[in-house]
Amino acid sequence: MSVAQKVIKPIEIESFQYLLEHIEEYKEIFITNAVIVFRGVAISRGQQLILMRKFGDKTGWFPNSTSDITKQWSYEENHSHTIDTYNKHNISKDEILIPWHIEHIGYKNPAVGASWNMEKFTCERGIGNTLFVNVADVYDDFDDEKLEFLNKCRIAYLDYSSSIDEEPAIHPAIQLHRPSGRYALRLSPQFNPLDKFCYLHEFDGTSPTEPQQDTFAKICKEYVSAIQDNQANQQVHIWEQNDVVVADLFLMAHAVLGGFKPEDRFFYGCWAHAEESSKFGEN
Ligand SMILES: [Fe+2]
Repeated sequence: MSVAQKVIKPIEIESFQYLLEHIEEYKEIFITNAVIVFRGVAISRGQQLILMRKFGDKTGWFPNSTSDITKQWSYEENHSHTIDTYNKHNISKDEILIPWHIEHIGYKNPAVGASWNMEKFTCERGIGNTLFVNVADVYDDFDDEKLEFLNKCRIAYLDYSSSIDEEPAIHPAIQLHRPSGRYALRLSPQFNPLDKFCYLHEFDGTSPTEPQQDTFAKICKEYVSAIQDNQANQQVHIWEQNDVVVADLFLMAHAVLGGFKPEDRFFYGCWAHAEESSKFGEN
């Protein structure tokens, strides 16, 4: 019998003031679960930024209560770009619209968190769900032999929208998630040994041999399967209008299911970064 995805249980709030009164408790839940959902009241964009800053005081990300208020990166999303570019106008609610990814993994200063405030949601319940897999859970499930190998790996990434000539971002395959003290597998959930966007750059301080590259590809295949295929690892958020999701994007690989049109839903997103700059590493 297959194990079902875990549904993320939203926290009901009466008002933004109520949220602030319980904020210390919510920060703890967030550090443990790497995702938290608030439901029950519309939160303004200004209040959303306050929430991100308060969480930043706990996680160490920017924005936080002492960071420059003008240095924050936000966006508006109805997924029309993806739907149009990849012709996903008619996909069902069970098909993937936004493929599994770890946010900005090929950038210099990838997002480590985000909040998504669903300002408009007129779909039926269960449409456009967001799926999550915590890559620290995947790390915990890998055996010592694989982890020992990955510990020696440095990975090169180019963002998929970059030109292949650009300088890749390079980082260790295994990284410490400071807020929780857990280790995360920072690999691509879309890894493909044939593409040039993500590859083994260095093994144990030197250029990797072919057998090392083969081992790396084999482990990555298991990693991809642990995220895409193993429902026991997956958590799902079922959206309602005015839901605010805060996700730890250092840990949470995620994907979005289809079945909706751009005019059906709309969210306002706030990014959080480890450095006080955009994903490009620029102010
Ligand atoms: Fe994303």
